[in-house]
Amino acid sequence: MATAFVPSTTLRLRPYSTLRCLSFYPKNLTKPYPVFPPLIRRSPISPRRFFSSVISGALHSGERTKSELAEKQKGQMGSKVGEFRKKLKIVDVKGGPDEGLDRVGLMIVVAGWVRTLRAQSSVTFIEVNDGSCLSNMQCVMTSDAEGYDQVKSGLITTGASIWIQGNVVPSQGSKQKVELKVNKIVLVGKSDPSYPIQKKRVSREFLRTKAHLRPRTNTFGALHLYNGLPLAGALVARVRNALAYATHKFFQENGFIWISSPIITASDCEGAGEQFCVTTLIPSSREAVESPVDAIPKTKDGLIDWSQVYTFGPTFRAENSNTSRHLAEFWMIEPELAFADLKDDMACATAYLQYVTVAERDFVQLSYTDAIELLIKAKKKFEFLFSLEIFDNFSGCMVQRGFSLLVKWGCDLQSEHERYLTEEAFGGCPVIVSDYPKEIKAFYMRQNDDGRTVAAMDMLVPRIGELIGGSQREERLEYLEGRLDELKLNRDTYWWYLDLRHYGSVPHAGFGLGFERLVQFATGVENIRDAIPFPRTPGSAEF
Ligand code: 4AD
Ligand code: MG
Repeated sequence: MATAFVPSTTLRLRPYSTLRCLSFYPKNLTKPYPVFPPLIRRSPISPRRFFSSVISGALHSGERTKSELAEKQKGQMGSKVGEFRKKLKIVDVKGGPDEGLDRVGLMIVVAGWVRTLRAQSSVTFIEVNDGSCLSNMQCVMTSDAEGYDQVKSGLITTGASIWIQGNVVPSQGSKQKVELKVNKIVLVGKSDPSYPIQKKRVSREFLRTKAHLRPRTNTFGALHLYNGLPLAGALVARVRNALAYATHKFFQENGFIWISSPIITASDCEGAGEQFCVTTLIPSSREAVESPVDAIPKTKDGLIDWSQVYTFGPTFRAENSNTSRHLAEFWMIEPELAFADLKDDMACATAYLQYVTVAERDFVQLSYTDAIELLIKAKKKFEFLFSLEIFDNFSGCMVQRGFSLLVKWGCDLQSEHERYLTEEAFGGCPVIVSDYPKEIKAFYMRQNDDGRTVAAMDMLVPRIGELIGGSQREERLEYLEGRLDELKLNRDTYWWYLDLRHYGSVPHAGFGLGFERLVQFATGVENIRDAIPFPRTPGSAEF
């Protein structure tokens, strides 16, 4: 297939970790860009949330099909792969279509962590999880099992790691089809009685302080998803994994290739490039004597001795936002489409979101100007204060500065406005707002003919607000240079970006989707700090 290809270095001026894709488009001269379906306008909304089959498939991978797959792959993948998959996991036993009944009579070994231990007069029940799936293996033990003394003496406690051998038998209980009748138990790693994650429900806030241990719980992501999907108790990490898998699948199947873009950058194009200070030069308060700043090593000239400093790893957004939707370090999916305009961009974003989460749902599309009108007419009282500057008509000087609750054309939409639009004005339907005032958007967005707006779009979804931000990019050299000058940005710094307009410029567009916000949206998790294993927020990088 012939393809047209445009390097997508165009936008990557800001630091964050990304999954980034480029597009390949078939050359079709009569219908140039028919890749994504046109956006469908508003239609009645179903309140139910669906997962695409890719997501449900990936979520259940390991629960239904893994054992069969493993068998199939053993022959194909070479002996080494077969070796590391040789050890039987709980998923291999319980994940098959018979939920383990086909393994009855088999003697197996389970290595995992004790979730709970319940000792009755003649029999002890130990729930073991080995991390291969959400299900535990119920291990039933009587006093004749080898190693029972360790149970009796209280060594086998919640959190301990154990090695346990037994026979798969049909279960007496209704919660599972099979259980393990234990012959032998070996304590691998004792768990101190202070183990913080006990059976009683612990709050998400508490678990966040134990981020290193929370993957051992199902509570971390005790989810209540819609449409009866058997995901209650699923780990957010599994949904996150499934969404990442579906993301790659979607873009790979639609002619994109994945590239690794740099994280360190010297340019700040969107006004969000504040710098973090990462230093080991300032001693902790315990070490500090008088002023910790005085203890910073200095050169002979009294300057800071930076030679002791280095930074390494992904970069972040340094905005000081402590909200349930902001992280300092987050992942972003950023597709960039060649030979594409804003409509293609919106269609791609819609198709992607429908593919990974809300299949068959229509999205509303309206302009920023219409959105402002709706907000002005809204009966709802908003809380955000906009700064208000009143200028003298004659001198042009500012005569009064204050704050106003009133939304007006030119305001950047706040989370409460975004949520009002998607949750209330359009009853829970994702909304794409387009054509924002150029003053509140980045310089590289394509100017519209009206001279005051740019071809930008934000996709807003219930409970989250902005999930996606994107635009058609300015491909016309003179417009781009003009905008750089207006904003007093140095053209020389953007030489390579301008070069892309010198040499074979094409209309192009793209967007960025906050991956943790997508995880929030897909799972119902309220706080973004629960959508990533080790959240980084202003002032916090504990784990
Ligand atoms: O709207 P934003 O700032 O757009 C960009 O960064 C563009 N350069 C993307 C592009 O056109 N390629 O950010 C995109 C998305 C937001 O819609 C939001 O979902 C997410 O990134 N995001 C954050 N997520 C978590 N924590 C933060 N501090 C975030 N800031 C933005
Ligand atoms: Mg944005």
